[in-house]
Order: sequence, then C-alpha cells, then structure tokens
Amino acid sequence: MYTKINEATQYIQTRFEGQIDIAIILGSGLGPLANEIENPVIIDYADIPHFPVSTIPGHDGQLYIGQLSGKTVCAMKGRFHYYEGHDMDIVSLPVRVFSKLNIPFLIVTNACGGIRDDLFPGQITLITDHIGFNAPSVLRGPNLDEFGPRFKDMTEVYSKRLGAIAKEAATKTDISMSEGVYCFFKGPMFETPAEIRALKCIGADMVGMSTVPEAIVARHSGMETLGISLVTNKAAGLGASELNHIEVMEAAKEAEKNLVTLTKEIIENLPEPIAQ
Ligand code: HPA
Repeated sequence: MYTKINEATQYIQTRFEGQIDIAIILGSGLGPLANEIENPVIIDYADIPHFPVSTIPGHDGQLYIGQLSGKTVCAMKGRFHYYEGHDMDIVSLPVRVFSKLNIPFLIVTNACGGIRDDLFPGQITLITDHIGFNAPSVLRGPNLDEFGPRFKDMTEVYSKRLGAIAKEAATKTDISMSEGVYCFFKGPMFETPAEIRALKCIGADMVGMSTVPEAIVARHSGMETLGISLVTNKAAGLGASELNHIEVMEAAKEAEKNLVTLTKEIIENLPEPIAQ
C-alpha cells in the first residue's frame, strides 16, 4: 500500500509543486465546482499510478489543482466507490495521497437520499457524524503507522470547527443548510423501504454510497474533514416514485449553484491548520 500511495503522490508532485491548502471530493453531479478553479492543472486519473478510472455518469476522472477563493485547492472530479468493485484501500487511496501531500483539510461531498422527515430534494446538509458499521472496514489489514495509529478514535470524524465555519457561510450566503447523520449503504442498488425504516431506527438521517471510507481514512491520517451532503431524493419508500440515477443527477444539478457558492465561502474562511 505504501508503494501505491508513494507512486501516486510522486506523480502528482511532478505535475504540481506547491503546497495545497485543501482537498475536495466532488460527489454525483457536483463536479461543476471544479470549473470554478482558476488556472487549473488538470490531471487525468488514468495518468496517476494506481488510480482507477471511474465508470459512473456524473463522475469524471480528473484531479483539478488550482486557485479557488484565494486558496490552493485540489478537487477530485469523480471518486471511487465500493460498489464499482474497488477494494476499500483503492476507494480511500486518494485521501492517503492527500495526506502524503500534507494537505491539512478535506471537504467531502455526496448526493444522498433523505430519510429524516424534513430532508427533501435540494436540501444541503452538513454531516455531523456517520454510521458506517455496515461498510467493510477501510482500516482493516496492516496498520499504516506512518499515517495514524492502529486503534483510531472516531469521536469527531467531521470537524466541529469546520462545521461552525460552514454554518456561518450558509448564514452569510443565505443558503439553507440542515445537519444530520449520514449512513453508508454498499450499493449499487438503492435500499429497500424496509432497510430505510431500519436505518431510521438506528439514527440515520441520510443514506448514500460513499464518503464514509474516505472520511475514516482522513481521520486516521489526521486530516480535518468537513462533510456536506446534497439530498437528491427522498429515500426508498418515502417518496412518490421509484428511485433512479437520472433523478439524482437532475436534483444535484439544480442545487449545484448553491453548493458552489457555499463551498467557495467556506474555503475563503478556512482557519489555520491545527499543527500535527
Ligand atoms: N440511496 C443511496 N444513495 C443515494 C441515494 C439514495 O437514496 N440518493 C443519492 N445517492
């Protein structure tokens, strides 16, 4: 694993030399934020050693490095999902690489289904915590001591101080932002209504097929993480119609402008990194 991480990191360093302030993982349909990055160096995943090429519509396979809101950002347009058949160490490889590049902050975004009654399509939601015990463990296997300890605390996977900055940004830009607990579901099929009722009972507000592995690895590596979900549909059995990926993409497109505005405001107000 170290070899894979090092080779991917070294390749990116040949394309961009400076210090990157923040990494962003762009979820389904949220890719357009990358287009706002000024003077980007655009790296195809196909050129980065060990990065797979993503296969899902709405998930392109490029890394954008450049300036956004006065900061140097590195945005993943397209991510790797467990449901595509990747092992968890590949799903989380980019986050290990970001850590190796000494990037102190991560913003992880996703499209999700709304479980809680007040979470409707279009709602931007701050992730306060997650439920991931139904996901295969991303830290299973030999511990990568260089990044973090064997038994890592997961009390605050999603940084409270970044969450507070996100809330201030939402108020300032007049964008409605809710908050809730995100639950991982393996996919690629959507959940059944019975599964959604079960997830509601265990405390899930939103459900989606990403984010949790990346956030755990970021926490293990000591990166400070902000998670933002975009509710694209009511979860299975709670809405009027059957679920489909087209609907998810359309809802993401509608809310995209707000999410871009909010993210730019957050990045502008990033705090100083906490010394490791
Ligand atoms: N379930 C799982 N993943 C999702 C959903 C959903 O309802 N919507 C968008 N991603």
